[in-house]
Amino acid sequence: MPITRRKTLGLIGGGTIFAAAAGIGGFAATRTPKAALAPWATAGTYDEPRMFALSYAILAPNPHNRQPWLVELKGDDTVILHRDTARDLPHTDPFQRQLVIGLGCFLELMTIAASEIDYAVDLRIYPEGEAGPVAIATFRKGAAKDPLFAMIPHRRTCRNPYADTPIPAEVVDQLTGFATIQTQPKLVAEIRALTWEAANIEIHTPAMQRESVDLTRFGKSEINANPDGITLGGTFLEGLMAFGLLTREGQMNPESREFATYVDTYHNWLANTPAYAVITSTGNTRADQINAGRKWVRLNLQTTALGLSLQPVSQALQEYPEMSKQYATAHRLLANPGETVQMLGRLGYGPDVGKSPRWPLKTRMLDG
Ligand SMILES: Cc1cc2nc3c(=O)[nH]c(=O)nc-3n(C[C@H](O)[C@H](O)[C@H](O)COP(=O)(O)O)c2cc1C
Repeated sequence: MPITRRKTLGLIGGGTIFAAAAGIGGFAATRTPKAALAPWATAGTYDEPRMFALSYAILAPNPHNRQPWLVELKGDDTVILHRDTARDLPHTDPFQRQLVIGLGCFLELMTIAASEIDYAVDLRIYPEGEAGPVAIATFRKGAAKDPLFAMIPHRRTCRNPYADTPIPAEVVDQLTGFATIQTQPKLVAEIRALTWEAANIEIHTPAMQRESVDLTRFGKSEINANPDGITLGGTFLEGLMAFGLLTREGQMNPESREFATYVDTYHNWLANTPAYAVITSTGNTRADQINAGRKWVRLNLQTTALGLSLQPVSQALQEYPEMSKQYATAHRLLANPGETVQMLGRLGYGPDVGKSPRWPLKTRMLDG
């Protein structure tokens, strides 16, 4: 089928982007990977307080949707959180900084959800140092409900162009306790240019692109079989797959038309960004990274409450040699000397997007 017209496509969650021809839609009936999305529906269906809280925690944002959490229930009040080292991202996250941020998001959602059923959570972060568990969490009765709880099922990462609408100052004010919000046009333009330069480096560095492509799930059956990583799904994209227009090989080949479309779409997202959210830390310890994740997910819940869209754009913050110049620029633009930029995100008004897949809670439990 000839490609006649380009169209940006929404995806089922996931990270990669694709734009291609219109006209293949309707290829299949429903291609929704229901099993992969089931954890969003089963959240909150547990009576046991820790399971209740964990069923929301697994909905946390996390890099490449690797879901690097492994949990263990101990006694009747304790959760031990481990990082699943089989889920590392050795190329784009060589020091596991981003994975640890994702675990911070997990701990924060667990704590918020526990508050909904009147449990406070005492967290000990890396209590045995880096070789031990990420956290030991003790649940005890008595907590004030966290109003952000209601946003957990609605939070998304929005990979789309955002409207050219400035964020009103009174809305920005409601985010300032959560992150640094950059709306100043000159700085926004500089960050936009930086994120595009960094994205280009990543997609043209074969080891980095390979890491993403290897984690891409093509179509409903791959997504249901491995409900993680970067997901490409839906009737239209599966149509393209069936016609050989969307393939692993194409995603790896800078000479292919598919790759060019991918680059164009990515550029279109990044170019259409009216503001940025930034989280920095004075140190860069594991505890700082956990803390950054806790802040990030609270920001993402608050943006959800305010009808704003958010997407991390992490490439310039990644610690591999090809990115060192952009890493330095990001730190010059966004942080004070000596600080670490832990998260950078595009912020604006984007369209509604679908949920991303999750492994069921039971599969992420050591004793499950
Ligand atoms: C530390 C961290 C870094 C991330 N970096 C990116 C990124 O560079 N680009 C992107 O599109 N999403 C990024 N994400 C978002 C994840 O891909 C997303 O949370 C995951 O795919 C699950 O989707 P959801 O947030 O819609 O539930 C990042 C998330 C975290 C926590």
